[in-house]
Amino acid sequence: MGIGTDSKLLESIKQSRKKRIWSSACSPGQEPYSIALVMQEAIPKLLGHDSRILATDLDSDVLAHAKRDLYTDESLAAIHPDRLRTFSKGDGGERHGQNRVSRQLRESVVFRHLNLMDAWPMCGSFDAIFCRNVLIYFTKEMQRVLFERIADLLGVVKCLFLGHSESLTELNDRFEYAARKSTGR
Ligand SMILES: C[S@@+](CC[C@H](N)C(=O)[O-])C[C@H]1O[C@@H](n2cnc3c(N)ncnc32)[C@H](O)[C@@H]1O
Repeated sequence: MGIGTDSKLLESIKQSRKKRIWSSACSPGQEPYSIALVMQEAIPKLLGHDSRILATDLDSDVLAHAKRDLYTDESLAAIHPDRLRTFSKGDGGERHGQNRVSRQLRESVVFRHLNLMDAWPMCGSFDAIFCRNVLIYFTKEMQRVLFERIADLLGVVKCLFLGHSESLTELNDRFEYAARKSTGR
């Protein structure tokens, strides 16, 4: 996840009145919580001050998991040990042995059901959109339409994060390639 090292993006996020990030295929929540974690480290005191991470997915089951906000040790294996301090270990009942993110992080992420192929209810612009590892589900033509809609929804600094093996080549010319980031969270 490269948001922590992208100074242009961070500067743009700091300047924007409402900080808005969209994790558009969020699965059980690791992606939006990773974004929240990195933003919290990079821009202290940011979360909770008119900043919001919208996390959406098509799959109701993964969203239910995300809203339960319980993660096994294995599912957090890729997170740096320093960052694991943000999680607390449950010591009884349903949460026993499971990890839960801090209240501050939890409150910075809003989970919603959304099919990327349907109409989008959001208005206004986003500072960054994450559309990672979901393109495989769409034809090239659908991807073209998707990227056009994403470009319309981004602010002046259009920052779009794709998966490691995904690309905009021959799909949309409204973006410039910025950098290849590591696959780690
Ligand atoms: C491989 S996961 C990627 C998760 C996360 N973005 C990441 O990179 O770790 C793909 C996710 O895309 C979601 N998905 C598939 N088709 C979708 C659609 N049409 N609209 C929204 N989400 C979709 C799936 O439910 C799944 O959670």
